[in-house]
Amino acid sequence: DLYNFRLIGPDTKVYGIIGKPVGHSKSPLLFNAAFKSVGLDAVYVHYLVDDVEKFFNTYSSIDWSGCSCTIPHKEAALKCMDDIDPIAKKIGAINNIVRRPDGKLIAFNTDYIGAISAIEDGLRGLNGTIPSAGSPLAGKLFVVLGAGGAGKSLAYGAAQKGARVVVANRTFERAKELADKVGGQAMTLAEVENFHPEEGMVLANTTSVGMKPKIDLTPISKEALKHYCVVFDAIYTPKDTRLLREARETGAVVVYGTEMLIRQGFEQYKNFTGLPAPEDLFRQLMEKHA
Ligand code: ATR
Repeated sequence: DLYNFRLIGPDTKVYGIIGKPVGHSKSPLLFNAAFKSVGLDAVYVHYLVDDVEKFFNTYSSIDWSGCSCTIPHKEAALKCMDDIDPIAKKIGAINNIVRRPDGKLIAFNTDYIGAISAIEDGLRGLNGTIPSAGSPLAGKLFVVLGAGGAGKSLAYGAAQKGARVVVANRTFERAKELADKVGGQAMTLAEVENFHPEEGMVLANTTSVGMKPKIDLTPISKEALKHYCVVFDAIYTPKDTRLLREARETGAVVVYGTEMLIRQGFEQYKNFTGLPAPEDLFRQLMEKHA
């Protein structure tokens, strides 16, 4: 019962996910269950959208409340927004759009927030459970593997938290371009193998190396992993990549890509409703429908 069928009336808030393809998205399942759990008069549907500009123009005079935005519209939707979160603007991609009562569209990128908060919790776990006032990423050496869309999210997100960012990419020019933008250092994937100016660094893989079906691959050697205390992999198919397995074996705390996925959803729910997300319910449903 995807929509938790109930009466939809004139005051029902309407949300959805725009994308192409979009039918596989679990977001309607998660959001509808979440709305129901707290008795919100709201519904969340799939929108198969080809042309984002046309979508926002068509819907500009209709009373809807917001949407999530997925492939291939995360960049193209930017130009239809009235206001964009500054970091999302720098990253150049949005995935969460809130339509204010006055019709203005406000956009966020919750992907970077999801990833960074999961990594911060990984670091906090390492240092005991006492929450520190600032970000545990402040001052940390943070190595991002990859310089594509996900690489940008992690690099900007970490820089915003005060980390010292290193971008390592197969193609050096792309690493350099991103590193310059975040005030960080650039290198190739080969160079990162011998890069250990200090111990206890943080690693975030955003390359596709190790993704299903090539699950026997890893973007960095196990030997090099010894210098990292927290290792995050943006890949979530499989959940447990070779990189994370080897990181565990070297004693690092590992942060799963699925954690980024679920936490970005919490952020979207917060932006849509102004309420904290029912985190346990989200987690249970994600597991049940994985
Ligand atoms: P996404 O939006 O998911 O980040 P992307 O923009 O296509 O995807 O970026 C893919 C990243 O994976 C890039 O950093 C890419 O490196 P290049 O810039 O050199 O292309 C990296 N990548 C993909 N396949 C790779 C491989 N076989 N070895 C190393 N890096 C790889």
